[in-house]
Amino acid sequence: MSIEEYLNKGVKEIITEFPEIEQILDEYEIGCGTCGEGLCLLKDIVEIHDVDEDLEAELMLRISKVIYPDKSVVIPKRRRENQEKKLFKYSPPMKKMVSEHVLIKRWVALIPKVIENLDLETEEGLQLIDQGIDFIRNYADKFHHAKEEDEAFKYFDENLAMIQVIRKDHVRVRAHVKAMLEAIENKDKDALAANLTAYAEILPEHIKKEDEILFPWMDRNLTTQQVGRLYSRFNEIEDDFRTAAERHRIFIERLETEFC
Ligand SMILES: [Fe+2]
Ligand SMILES: [Fe+2]
Repeated sequence: MSIEEYLNKGVKEIITEFPEIEQILDEYEIGCGTCGEGLCLLKDIVEIHDVDEDLEAELMLRISKVIYPDKSVVIPKRRRENQEKKLFKYSPPMKKMVSEHVLIKRWVALIPKVIENLDLETEEGLQLIDQGIDFIRNYADKFHHAKEEDEAFKYFDENLAMIQVIRKDHVRVRAHVKAMLEAIENKDKDALAANLTAYAEILPEHIKKEDEILFPWMDRNLTTQQVGRLYSRFNEIEDDFRTAAERHRIFIERLETEFC
């Protein structure tokens, strides 16, 4: 198979054929093996992960040696617009989403304590879990994920592997929320705890993918005008959600005082 054919294959397929490549990618902090999808094409990996130019040459040389141990094959470098260093300098709309992630991560950090204190028998216990699920459904999903899916993604080809990966995470999260609601209905503490735990496991990796890969990549590919439009749209959405956002923030702060 030619190098061009390999460059156009999904990373997961490449890793299945050459497991050693997963380890190499890991060394460059490209966690395709654990991404869960690995749909991104090998040729796009360095761009998606914004690998430094010197590291790109080294990484591609190592990959080509695994694929073709007996011959020397040069993998063409991607074209670069500029030599900017990898420093997550977000545009204003991306900054907003990154700061929303901070509140979501604070909630995720509280989940072990929420599970420890699960109580589906008392009004107080039910109120706590209702507020937690309200945060997940309304702040993290309806408000934040909707900004991603209904606004930011609309500027891109929705068939892109990276966007599909993010969307699939959102779908997985929604399935856990549905199961949480059923667990409350059935007064099934174990099922509720299991779904909260699964949710808390998905979110940190999901947020990392967005903060470190998706948002910087979107910023590199949006025009200044599109960034401006996205920012105004986010402001409108936030205006409508202001009171609710405040309620969710107060809930997280209260839990932190209570549990930490
Ligand atoms: Fe997301
Ligand atoms: Fe997000």
